[in-house]
Amino acid sequence: MIEFRLLDQFESHFRSKGRIFSSPGRINVIGEHTDYNQGFVLPSIIKQKFYVVMAKRGGLDPFPIVRILSSQSNETVEFNLFTPPPKPWMKYFWGVIKEMMKREREISSIDVLIYSDIPVGAGVSSSAALCSAFGLALNGIFNLGFSNLELAKIGQDTEHNYIGVKCGLMDQFASLFGKKGSFIKLDCQSLDFEYIPFDYPEISILLFNSRVKHNLAASEYNLRRDSCERVVDVLKFNYPNIQSLRDVLLIDLMNSQNFIDEIDFKRALYVLEENQRVLNLCESLKNGDISSLVTLLLASHEGLSKQYEVSCSELDYLVESAYNSPGIIGARMMGGGFGGCTINFVKTDLKEQFVEKMCTQFEKKYLKTAIYYDI
Ligand code: GLA
Repeated sequence: MIEFRLLDQFESHFRSKGRIFSSPGRINVIGEHTDYNQGFVLPSIIKQKFYVVMAKRGGLDPFPIVRILSSQSNETVEFNLFTPPPKPWMKYFWGVIKEMMKREREISSIDVLIYSDIPVGAGVSSSAALCSAFGLALNGIFNLGFSNLELAKIGQDTEHNYIGVKCGLMDQFASLFGKKGSFIKLDCQSLDFEYIPFDYPEISILLFNSRVKHNLAASEYNLRRDSCERVVDVLKFNYPNIQSLRDVLLIDLMNSQNFIDEIDFKRALYVLEENQRVLNLCESLKNGDISSLVTLLLASHEGLSKQYEVSCSELDYLVESAYNSPGIIGARMMGGGFGGCTINFVKTDLKEQFVEKMCTQFEKKYLKTAIYYDI
């Protein structure tokens, strides 16, 4: 088992015993760019995880030191808590600790081993899994008493304050609350949630990687959020109680169209429609009806691609190919966009034919090996 191997590796490297913690990556069935608009999302977890082995470090360091060994590269990096770390990826660890210190917790020197089998840049939230696993480890080792919801918010604040992505709470929440075999319907306004079991052996969920790393994502993502906030500001003139797009009725948005920038309007309309799609799909799934997956996922993709403009040609092509391949039930781009993966619901008995056709088409068009994940 991977856990035993990592514990052994930690012990032979640091000459002390550590404890292991882990947190998974996530998928999202529907409800994209709705979380920071206080709307609804329907994520779940994947089997790939981020692992952290951690122990307090003996001796008295003048400044607390974090030593991180990567299990994969066997390299160690070190930073102290008073100097921002040099490499961008270390900022996630630094950020989580800083956010915990802001919340008046004390953290001393630690040794850490990390390992992850979550694909990076594939839109399955490897960074949220990192922050969640690291947060769980600090919480456990130092007895900090954070709830999982607080850990999710610490992960989100790390993205906001140290990475510069003004993300919603979906990824961190899914990573910390997700259960295998269920989707989580999360209301991002009240933070109420419920598990919706998805137990259909005859249906498989596959992710196809566009092989485009979402480089634009950070800046474009924040611009989408700005658009939504501008619409809320305009609507507040006539509807002062509105806090977010979640509080906006379709009729009120329509009636205010003349006062709203054209692009902002298109994006806000997408958000309202996507929220409704989440609710519709949840209702169907709860009634054991999966027939609406096809129309709702397709409409979600169209909205993301044409109204919200966060897709790219590779993602559009993968979705189009999926709908032309055997066994498809529903497909769309997934996550923040500009690259990453598509999510595909496929009939299990036609999975092989589906994969074969998808790979052949992708490879022919992009001259790159197709990559997919069976989750
Ligand atoms: C990224 C963000 C999430 C969410 C999705 C889009 O994954 O981290 O908060 O906004 O994009 O749905």
